Amino acid sequence: MKTFLSLCAGAAFCILASCSEGPTKQMPYNQGINVIPTPVSLVQNEGSFKLSKNTAFSASTPEAKTVAEYFAAQMNLATGYQITVSDKAASNGIALAIDEALDVNDEGYTLDVTPQGVTVKAKTPQGLFYGMQTFMQLLPAEIQSPAVVNGIAWTASCVTVKDEPRFEYRGIMLDPCRHFIPVENVKKHLDVLALFKINRMHWHLTDDQGWRIEIKRYPLLTRRGAWRTPNKHDSVCLRRAADERDPKFLLPAKNIRREQGEIRYGGYYTQDDIREIVAYAAQRGIEVIPEIDLPGHSLAADGRGGWGKHFSTPLCIGRDSTIAFCKNVLTELFDLFPSQYVHIGGDEVERTPWETCPDCQRRIRAEKLEGAGELQAWFTRKTEQFLAAHGKTLLGWDEITEDGLTPQSAVMWWRSWMPSTLTAALQNGHRVIESPSEFLYLNGELDRNTLSKVYGWEPLPESLRAWQEGLLGIQANMWTEDVPTADAA
Ligand code: ACM
Repeated sequence: MKTFLSLCAGAAFCILASCSEGPTKQMPYNQGINVIPTPVSLVQNEGSFKLSKNTAFSASTPEAKTVAEYFAAQMNLATGYQITVSDKAASNGIALAIDEALDVNDEGYTLDVTPQGVTVKAKTPQGLFYGMQTFMQLLPAEIQSPAVVNGIAWTASCVTVKDEPRFEYRGIMLDPCRHFIPVENVKKHLDVLALFKINRMHWHLTDDQGWRIEIKRYPLLTRRGAWRTPNKHDSVCLRRAADERDPKFLLPAKNIRREQGEIRYGGYYTQDDIREIVAYAAQRGIEVIPEIDLPGHSLAADGRGGWGKHFSTPLCIGRDSTIAFCKNVLTELFDLFPSQYVHIGGDEVERTPWETCPDCQRRIRAEKLEGAGELQAWFTRKTEQFLAAHGKTLLGWDEITEDGLTPQSAVMWWRSWMPSTLTAALQNGHRVIESPSEFLYLNGELDRNTLSKVYGWEPLPESLRAWQEGLLGIQANMWTEDVPTADAA
């Protein structure tokens, strides 16, 4: 079996670089059956199926046809064939069929690969999409190439697969705030997520170090808040870029600008960029959940993004104008992101500035709050109500479990060292996504978060079984403090 890393390497080789023409030797990563995540059941049978220029897709419904067209397009890019899609079954074909009676959950599928043909069945187009992703992983990894690869035997081992995801929510968080991630790289990221059947991308769009989403009502958020003085990682990149010694570390020129003789580093997504990414993700079965980190991690909101006096700079939520600002920003998200959840952060809020702020103190007295801690809870409850009034559901980091929210809000548990917040959230009836820093922070040094440690982690141990209904799923996080460029990652 090839390892996860070699599959990633193979996929990354083909997705991130373009494969050259000419004979390609059989790469070791193409040996054996290497489906990730491991299907619930996979039986290998005799023989193999060969993709050829005569292969055609058949699709039982218009939605199945859309899935078939997506994969036919990718196969054609890599093979140079002209694989077509129709509603008629073909010999040596790949048949996609919706079967509502199938004994799998909504994202599950069955896959049969025989020498004569391939059949994928599912209850939903999403299930068909995953069945096809499994089939793609049975083919040589070069099938992911954006350009024709010659000299490849496009064969897949014969198998019988029955598979369904264990959790409804399977997410990855991406942080373009500490270091900006251009649209093209976000798309490549989404391609890889789709390959591994991840169905949510949580997009951490604001933090102290940069405001990354265009808000039409407040253009200064991105005109000023998206740009900052480079930190030491950026400076290393800038120096290397100047020396032109290590192109891997070149920060894209459009992410560097000069202001009054000073270098500023940054970038942001326009609302058109956001729409493009959301649509690109949806085509791959991935829902994008936006995060505006409130009320902490907000230094960039006043146009001075960077590494400030505090680890996480809070907004002054004593002022009504700040509350109006938050509502106006969230309102612009509603049109851009169809997701049910809106993530409002809520983590690591440094509350000491509120203790001496006259506006915050006035609010604490007026609302009869116990102090700065309760001020955040008051803000989170208000935001919960605001989102609910607009048909959206609040999602936040696990610090919000203390905030007296209704069970409708969902909690993302990250503080591995505080398991009591996970059980409290489940006991209070919240839906919970587990994202423990000890296991699922992929930005950690590899010797700390080894592959076996990540794989060995059990999200639903015996001690949590009583509340398993509330466990929506799991998410891994990619923070970018130490990831200056997409290529360096
Ligand atoms: C977090 O890592 N502060 C959610």
